Amino acid sequence: MIMVKPVNPILLLLLSSFITATFAARHKLVVGSFSTELIHTLEYDDVDNTLTKLTHSFVGAASSWLTLNHDKTKLYGTDWNAKEPTFVSYDVSNPHDIKVEKRIVAGTLCSNTRNVFALADQQAPYTVYGNYYYGDAKCSTVFSVDGNGTLKEVIQDYAYLPGSAVHGTAITLDGRFLVSADTKGNLVWTHAIDRDTGLLSSVSAIQGPSDGSGPRHLVTKVSSGNGQPLVYVVLEEASAVAQYAIRDDGTLYPVGDKISYPLLPAGLDPAGYWADEVALSSPGNRYLWATNRARNDSLKGYISAFRLGRDSGLIEEQLFLRETSTSGGFANSIAASPFDDEIAALTDNSTGLVQIWHVDKGVLAHLEIPDNQSCCANVVWLD
Ligand SMILES: *[C@@H]1O[C@H](CO)[C@@H](O)[C@H](O)[C@H]1NC(C)=O
Ligand SMILES: *[C@@H]1O[C@H](CO)[C@@H](O)[C@H](O)[C@H]1NC(C)=O
Ligand SMILES: *[C@@H]1O[C@H](CO)[C@@H](O)[C@H](O)[C@H]1NC(C)=O
Ligand SMILES: *[C@@H]1O[C@H](CO)[C@@H](O)[C@H](O)[C@H]1NC(C)=O
Repeated sequence: MIMVKPVNPILLLLLSSFITATFAARHKLVVGSFSTELIHTLEYDDVDNTLTKLTHSFVGAASSWLTLNHDKTKLYGTDWNAKEPTFVSYDVSNPHDIKVEKRIVAGTLCSNTRNVFALADQQAPYTVYGNYYYGDAKCSTVFSVDGNGTLKEVIQDYAYLPGSAVHGTAITLDGRFLVSADTKGNLVWTHAIDRDTGLLSSVSAIQGPSDGSGPRHLVTKVSSGNGQPLVYVVLEEASAVAQYAIRDDGTLYPVGDKISYPLLPAGLDPAGYWADEVALSSPGNRYLWATNRARNDSLKGYISAFRLGRDSGLIEEQLFLRETSTSGGFANSIAASPFDDEIAALTDNSTGLVQIWHVDKGVLAHLEIPDNQSCCANVVWLD
């Protein structure tokens, strides 16, 4: 006979309020800007669907790009207005008071260039990879971090090809490869990562899916079907998304039914647009978000989401392709939330705003940060 112990009703009540509380959460996110030297700290309430600005920190750098380290205590970014390409290391352990800890001028293999991107490896030794654009931008830089995660020093400078300019990188989940989107060279590169040192060695490069397609940013995932790493690439010039798989030797090959998926309605000229970002939903990796920007503020940008196959990880369906409320300016960057596959944050710097998007419901929350029209570059979610 099974004995059923009576449940204490007070305990039940406590338990149920605890469960409710875990679903009702406030999430912090930070957003940088292209010219004011502020990082804004925002809060999204996922019950009330409100997005509010909590504060801003004066950091002395216009962070056109920000990225988080593995334990979300450090941020690494660019200084858009610096005379020489400068990487900035921030402490974000107190999101109400973000502090600069280090600035490193880099890019010695390039000239008249600007740094635009950084990525922190989420596995030890937590190496940071930085990229350049504009001018002669064929180079990239590898940085070590100290025991606290603060950017330490340049450990490698390397070059791609004359005419190359890499605007974004991603690391495979197994930590073996860094893939790089070479916008001006119309290439996607693979480098092998030495897991002890973080140093890179070149493996291969594959052409974009069409002439001048302009690979810009990319994200990676593992196919749960065959365990192969997948790479989704946003093509700036072609206004589209392409997907690749990575062989064991690090070489890429296109996968899926189509060569690429459009980020622009049929009939519109890609010359008027420059697709921006691609982001993998989390925690379940069920969707791929992608965005496009208009080059002219009298036009609108676009946002799209794709459903990914549960096992294959491949794009199965484009769920929507919708206009954004503005051109997006230099941004229309999208950052998937870490807590809900259906939620992501979109930024715009033509008027200065951040929106929270839901994959089915569209805009859930909207926050204007006028900030002399220089906000908002990209969002990172702290929780
Ligand atoms: C942590 O950061 C502080 C302040 O920058 C520095 O003095 C200290 O050496 C760092 N610790 C390690 C283990 O790197
Ligand atoms: C933007 O579009 C408007 C309307 O078509 C046009 O008048 C203007 O010249 C365009 N601006 C640029 C910078 O192309
Ligand atoms: C958006 O950022 C770009 C890059 O710095 C800048 O040129 C542009 O003026 C900004 N947009 C507005 C409306 O301030
Ligand atoms: C906006 O611009 C005005 C006028 O140039 C300036 O006084 C003010 O400090 C600026 N605000 C910010 C947040 O940069």
